[in-house]
Parts: sequence; C-alpha cells; structure tokens
Amino acid sequence: KGCKLVGCGSAVPALQISNVELSKIVETSDEWISTRTGIRNRRVLSGKESLNDLAVEAARKALLMAEVEPDDVDLILMCTSTPEDLFGGAPQIQKALGCKNNPLSYDITAACSGFLLGLVSGASHIRGTGFRNVLVIGADALSRFVDWTDRGSCILFGDAAGAVLLQACDSEEDGLFSFDVHSDGEGGRHLNAGIRGNENKHVLGSNGSVLFPPQRSSYSCIHMNGKEVFRFAVRVVPQSIESAMVKAGLTMSSIDWLLLHQANQRIIDAVATRLEIPSERVISNLANYGNTSAASIPLALDEAVRSGRVKLGDTIAAAGFGAGLTWGSAILRW
Ligand code: ACO
Repeated sequence: KGCKLVGCGSAVPALQISNVELSKIVETSDEWISTRTGIRNRRVLSGKESLNDLAVEAARKALLMAEVEPDDVDLILMCTSTPEDLFGGAPQIQKALGCKNNPLSYDITAACSGFLLGLVSGASHIRGTGFRNVLVIGADALSRFVDWTDRGSCILFGDAAGAVLLQACDSEEDGLFSFDVHSDGEGGRHLNAGIRGNENKHVLGSNGSVLFPPQRSSYSCIHMNGKEVFRFAVRVVPQSIESAMVKAGLTMSSIDWLLLHQANQRIIDAVATRLEIPSERVISNLANYGNTSAASIPLALDEAVRSGRVKLGDTIAAAGFGAGLTWGSAILRW
C-alpha cells in the first residue's frame, strides 16, 4: 500500500527575539551568533498563545491544503518533547480540531528527530493498520526549558509548529520511498533535560521504609555539549541519508531538495558538502526561527511549498537529529 504527503501547514508565535535583543540578556553579539549558527531571529511563545494553539493552526492549514475534513482524520501524531500536558497533547489537539469520529491520537517524544519519526510511524500505520488520513504534527516550545543565562545554548532555540497530512494511496503513487532511523542512549549525555532532583524528599516511616514517594517533579533546563552534538550531526546525518537513498534505489542526482533539521547553518552546509548537494538545492530558514526542534522540518517544508520553491513531484531528502541521541532520514516525494 502507498502513502503520500498531501498537505502541509505551520504556525509560529508572534513574539520575535533578535540576536541584538538576546545580547541584552547574555554576553553575546549578533555577529557571533550569526556567523557560528546562521540564526538571526527566533519566535518565542508569550502568555497569549499556547503550543497547542500553534499545533492546531498548523494542522488546520495542512487539512485545508489537502482538502480533508477533520472528521476524515484517522490518526493524529503530536511529535513534541514539550507537551502542555505531561500525559500528552494530541487528544486536546484532536478536540480543538473538532474531529468527531474519535480518531486515535497520541504523542511521540524524540526531540529534534520527533517529526521524522512521526513520519515513519504515520506511514507504518497507513501501511499496516489501514488508516487513510494521518496528521503528523511537529511542535515544540524549547524556550520553556532553555537556561536563559547559558549563552552557549539559549541563542539556538525558538518555538513553532508544523504539520503534514499523510494519505493512503495506490502503491504506484507512493511518496515515502524509504527511511533510515537510529538512536544511541550512550550519546544522550551530550544533550538532555532530565528530571530535576526533588526538594520534596521521600517521606520515610519509622523503620526507614518509604511511606510516600517524592511529589511535584520538574525538569531541568537543557544541558548541551554543543561541540559534541555538532560532531555527531555532521558524522551521522550524511551516512543516514546515503543509507536511505540506497534503500530507495535512488542516486544523489535525483534529489531535488535537502531538508535537514534546522539546528545550525554550519551543520547544514557541512552535510550538503559531504553529499555534494549544491547550496541552491538546500532548504534553510533557521535565520528567522532558530532551532525549533520537532517543528523545524515541517515548518521549513511548508514555507518552501507555499513560496513555490518545492513543487509537486519534487524528491526531498529529509533528516532529523537531536537529543536521545536520535537521528534518521526519509526520502520522500512532495
Ligand atoms: N556568544 C559569544 N560567545 C560565545 C557564545 C555566544 N552565544 N557561546 C559560546 N561562546 C564562546 C565560548 O565561551 C567559547 O569561548 P572561549 O573560547 O573563550 O572558551 C567560544 O565562544 C567558542 O565556544 P564553542 O562552544 O566552542 O563554540 P562553537 O563553535 O562550538 O559553537 C554552538 C557553539 C553554536 C552551540 C555549536 O557547537 C553548535 O551549534 N552545536 C550544535 C548544537 C545543536 O545543534 N544542538 C541542538 C540539537 S537538536 C535537539 O535535539 C535539541
């Protein structure tokens, strides 16, 4: 059974923070940030909007483009590491979209690889479970977990949401050619936001046994070894794309667009150089939004489609990488 992309959409918060504004908070400069990362601005959620609002807006736009009604959606995958509810945000998005047929909806947590893994899961559901329309949403608000005193990481991240609609089709029309996905818990020490050691200690009984476990936990800010993450990305992403290309039976010359998770322009450039993909075939919008985690691939795709750069029938090599560590690629046709 085939599976193709039939719609996309995105949404970003209204509040924009430039490098110059950031340099008032931490010791940095527009020059340092833009030359080391390519980032100039990022959008950050204010109190006026929620992550779910962005996700719903992105999903609505994808449905509109695909001309599919919310009632015809069979599955919603909310790829996020920053849900508004610890138990997951997808059912609330389902409710806000007004999907009356109680489709299945759940969250996928895989940081910046979340959307890529959402695509894999969505396609597997279409091929294996018989679902027809699957919304894959990538949405994150890492600004809530950034240490705004750490200039090595706070300059990188922004908030956003992006979505695509996957649809079942005949195998000749298949638009998701191949995947290559991995994770490495060992490397997780280089990028994480673990549960915080709790001030509320266990309540112990007189014999030392635990009467009540600690309550009210929270997560620490993002801890990142930038250099290690950089090296990891530049090493694994080209390998992963090459392996997905082999599985798809395609050569690099058949790739119209390279669409990587938008983390750092130097990472994007290094991967493109390794794969010998010229810069005019590389999609990049991180100057405006920074690293928006699970949202970055669908956000960049949506802008490229709506601006007319990516056209119907174009072949895209997409790759995500990030915390976990997790990474993966997908070769797809728009
Ligand atoms: N402004 C000015 N100076 C800075 C800043 C800043 N914002 N940040 C660091 N510096 C300084 C450092 O203190 C250091 O100074 P020193 O030489 O006096 O010690 C110097 O600049 C160089 O610092 P490095 O950390 O070596 O800089 P690097 O070139 O590695 O760039 C960066 C840092 C931009 C973070 C880079 O390593 C990077 O982008 N890594 C990848 C990170 C990434 O993509 N993370 C997200 C993954 S996705 C996910 O799952 C969330």
